[in-house]
Amino acid sequence: MKEPSVQILSDMDSLVSAAAEEIARALEAALRERGSAAFVLTGGTTPKPVYETLAQSPYRERIAWEKIDFFWGDERCVPPDHPESNYRMAWQALLSRLTVPEHRIHRILGELEDTEQAALCYEAEIRRLAAGTAIPSFDLVLLGMGEDGHTASLFPGTAWDPDRLVVAVWVPRLGRRRISMTPRLLNAARRVIFITAGQAKAAALAKVLEDPANDYPAGKIQPEADSVTWMVDKPAASLLASKRMPASSHLRGEDR
Ligand code: 6PG
Repeated sequence: MKEPSVQILSDMDSLVSAAAEEIARALEAALRERGSAAFVLTGGTTPKPVYETLAQSPYRERIAWEKIDFFWGDERCVPPDHPESNYRMAWQALLSRLTVPEHRIHRILGELEDTEQAALCYEAEIRRLAAGTAIPSFDLVLLGMGEDGHTASLFPGTAWDPDRLVVAVWVPRLGRRRISMTPRLLNAARRVIFITAGQAKAAALAKVLEDPANDYPAGKIQPEADSVTWMVDKPAASLLASKRMPASSHLRGEDR
């Protein structure tokens, strides 16, 4: 496993700007190499301002959004117009403000009563688009992390079939079902970026990055192709023991 790359940004505004730029570069690199890109969005509150930034100038014009396929790493079991829907948040903050053909927006059917069916449908949709590849490789996966070390909808103590690409899980803490991509699929991605902010995440972040024995779902995201990039604000990084490079000297060059 490659060492994660960690960028520590001084505050939320800097984190949002740096994350938007990092995402833009990753998408541009994929568009240059392959002519199209597959981008997995995350839910939660942290990415919302990042999506809003990407929907504005200069990113709005800079990126060929119409050539990007959008997916979701997880979804709540609610209809697409529900306030808790991850699709709805991304639609409002990003997709509705850009010109993306409908056939490139691949949402999870959170409204299906049969959540297992919703997971299987999404897995089939992903496989169909990857045409023949055993495990499809997304160009970019964006993830967040909860205070308990969960990522996507993979929570500590949640059991899932490791061979599946997408699963329906029961989350006891929430008393809800969720649909989530699994590490098998997420780890096949060409690039994974976590965005995490706030003091409340500090203990979980230190565990995931510095305790090799940690069993947190976020720690299971170790893509084969590249190191994970963690973009965090100072409060979230406050319990890291290792001296990390300041973000300014850590930002990557053109060709990521
Ligand atoms: C979701 C997620 C989840 C999220 C974390 C962090 O649907 O809620 O995809 O894994 O990324 O809970 O969320 P915040 O950004 O709100 O802290």
